[in-house]
This record gives sequence, structure tokens and C-alpha cells, in this order.
Amino acid sequence: MKALSGRTALVTGGARGIGAAIAHTFVDEGARVVIADLLEEEGRALQEKLGDATRFQKLDVTNDVDWATAVSETEQAFGPVSVLVNNAGIVEFGSMEETDPQVFQRVIAVNLYGPWLGIRASVPSMRRAGGGVILNVSSTAGLMGYANLGAYVASKWGLRGLTKTAALELAASGIRVCSLHPGPIATPMTAGMDASIAADQPIPRFGTPEEVAAMALFLTADATYSTGSEFVIDGGATTGSMVLAQRGDGD
Ligand SMILES: NC(=O)c1ccc[n+]([C@@H]2O[C@H](COP(=O)([O-])OP(=O)(O)OC[C@H]3O[C@@H](n4cnc5c(N)ncnc54)[C@H](O)[C@@H]3O)[C@@H](O)[C@H]2O)c1
Repeated sequence: MKALSGRTALVTGGARGIGAAIAHTFVDEGARVVIADLLEEEGRALQEKLGDATRFQKLDVTNDVDWATAVSETEQAFGPVSVLVNNAGIVEFGSMEETDPQVFQRVIAVNLYGPWLGIRASVPSMRRAGGGVILNVSSTAGLMGYANLGAYVASKWGLRGLTKTAALELAASGIRVCSLHPGPIATPMTAGMDASIAADQPIPRFGTPEEVAAMALFLTADATYSTGSEFVIDGGATTGSMVLAQRGDGD
């Protein structure tokens, strides 16, 4: 029997990048997967590639009506949702002074309000499934600060906190909730970024979406004693700084 046989998963931002890799891995492990995204063309293409165990669902994570539709369509197609992956996200760069208030609000809406709406909409279905797992894709930006990424950092720290509260509230319903904290991963989101941003990491390269998907699979299928916790997959980016060792030279 495969690790996720009989499970129904809803993956937001599933049309490409990390979400697409999670959808692929989950299908390989026997799950039925709803790929939920704004990107219809990419989402439908992936659905065709992955086959009958998948559906594409157009979803804007900031829209509660979309969420109600997505959960009911998922139930009709595949039965109650037992795995929710809140993966959809956006990034915007800019200093505190330069960032437009609407941009700040949009980042919070997609990266934090969206997952909250998703949890709210999916939990009744998970209870019907007899329990479940919620994975919230945060970031190393949910563990530390980054200059010129204030909105993103705030959204990802918020998602980490929401994870802990959800874990506390939902434990009695047999629902585990964990956050994932990737470092730089090679996806369309980071396509324009310089490879040197990973150069100072103990593992000095970008990670792959498949490496993140492997952790998502572990958290869903095997990590049965984990809830409310952070799972970091960052090539060691948050381990510490090499600056003193490099500049110390014994003085
Ligand atoms: N790539 C990285 O280096 C990295 C690092 C840490 C965390 N993350 C997080 O991982 C997640 C996935 O990132 P990725 O790198 O695969 O990005 P990506 O841009 O390749 O994919 C994100 C997906 O989310 C979808 N999306 C965006 N807004 C949406 C909305 N309102 N409703 C529904 N779907 C929406 C996009 O259409 C896209 O398919 C994000 O939450 C991101 O913040 C990424």
C-alpha cells in the first residue's frame, strides 16, 4: 500500500513550482489531489499530465466563496479533504518606506489571510474525513528578518503563528497542523534571483521543489507525533553566520 492511499489532498498554488511538485509526489503515493490555483492553463496541463487521480480547481485563496466551492467540488469528486496544503504565495520586494500600502495588504491577503480562509473552509470536511493534516508553506522568512521583504516576512511569521493556534484548536479533531520553512528553491518565483544568494549556505545551492515535496510527504504520511512545529528545508541557511570565522584570522 502506498503512503497516501485513500487520502484526498487539496494543494493551493498547485499549478507550478513547489505546489506542482507536491501534487506530483502525492499522486505517486496514492492520493487523489485537487490542484487549486489562479493559473488555469498551467493547472489544467498538470492535471492532464498527472491523470485521473487529479482535478484542477480555479481558486483565488483570498476569496471565501472560491474556497467554499473548492471544498465542495473536492468532496464531490474525491470525498472529504484529509490533507490541505496552503502553498499559494506571492513575494514583493521593497523597503518599509517604498512599499505601497496596497502591495503590503495584497501580500498579507494571499500569504496569510488565504491560508486562514483555507483552514476555515476545510476543517468541517476534515472532520467528515475523520481527521487530517494541514501543511502551511511558510519560509525562512517566517524564522528571521530580511531587509526589503517586510510584507513577505510579516506574512510568513503570521502563518507560522497561525499554524500553532490551529494545531491547538484542531488537535482534538485529529487534525495535525505544521509549517514548512523552505530557503531558496528553484521555482518560477525565484527565477529572476541571483544564484549567489545561496552561496553562503552550508549547502550552497538552491533546493528543488521535489526536495520540499519529500518533506511534505513525510509530514503528511509519517510525522504522526508532530503538530504545531516548524520544519526547515533551507540548505542550512538559518544555521548561523560564517562571517566571524572568515574574518577572525586568529586576532
Ligand atoms: N521558491 C522559494 O524559494 C520559496 C522559499 C520559501 C517559501 N516559498 C513559498 O513556497 C510557496 C510556493 O512558492 P513557489 O516558489 O512554488 O512559487 P510560484 O510562484 O512558482 O508558485 C506559486 C503559485 O501560487 C499561485 N498563486 C498565487 N497567488 C494565488 C492566489 N491568490 N490564489 C491561488 N493561487 C495563487 C500562483 O499562481 C503559482 O502557481 C509560496 O508560499 C512561497 O512563498 C518559496
